[in-house]
Amino acid sequence: MEEMTKRAEKLLLLKQADIYRGPLILVNVGYPVRSGGFPLSKGLTEVSEEWPEILLEARAAALLRELICRSGGWKEICPVSGYRTRREQVEIWEGSFRENGEAYTRKYVARPDCSEHQTGLAVDLAKRAETIDFICPDFPDEGVCAELRRLAPGCGFIERYPKEKQKLTGIGWEPWHFRYVGYPHSVIMKERGFCLEEYIRFLSDYPAENPLIWRDSQREFEIFHVPAKGRFTPLKAPETGVVLVSGNNVDGFIVTIWR
Ligand code: DAL
Ligand code: ZN
Repeated sequence: MEEMTKRAEKLLLLKQADIYRGPLILVNVGYPVRSGGFPLSKGLTEVSEEWPEILLEARAAALLRELICRSGGWKEICPVSGYRTRREQVEIWEGSFRENGEAYTRKYVARPDCSEHQTGLAVDLAKRAETIDFICPDFPDEGVCAELRRLAPGCGFIERYPKEKQKLTGIGWEPWHFRYVGYPHSVIMKERGFCLEEYIRFLSDYPAENPLIWRDSQREFEIFHVPAKGRFTPLKAPETGVVLVSGNNVDGFIVTIWR
């Protein structure tokens, strides 16, 4: 007899505006931040009391604090830039154009609305020093900085602009720019050598009927892509397990189920 183990499900309705919010949104020149789709779930918060002007989305800020703590603390590291308003990104873009010229600016500064800094999910980090370059801070691959780089995926962060992915990201190598995408996506991306552009494309081959299954030592994760269907997209989610939904800022949603 056929086994009757249909799992209990609940129906969720995903809103169109939610395509543009959440930790997995892809933001680049092809997929700008949507106005009105401010992708913050819990608001902005300061990264540390010492740097009250550097804000990040609340969960990204908490995980960054955890990451810095695990890497050896704040003594040698400082945040240089976190959340930026559109106006700030315009000023940085225009200021760099004047001071550094077009080629440099296009390489290291995202156009207004195409910057992850406008999402509150990206942070630039520097090794503490007397002078720190605001656009290209020094974050060397040694000591505490290298340790942070190694531990970043475990806390949900990726190096967003790797040297070998410049053609795909459209941005130069930025070893100081970290982006919160959330665990376990950060670890899967690291394992497979994907930048965010590649990962979002890769996940579109995993629909709800054929999810990506990934395991760590304690849990199993089910990950799949749900294309948006108009104003409301139905999602049959299991009653058990933690269900997290993020927009991808492209065509729909990424669902992550923790068991
Ligand atoms: N430096 C990165 C690309 C930005 O301006 O968002
Ligand atoms: Zn940055």
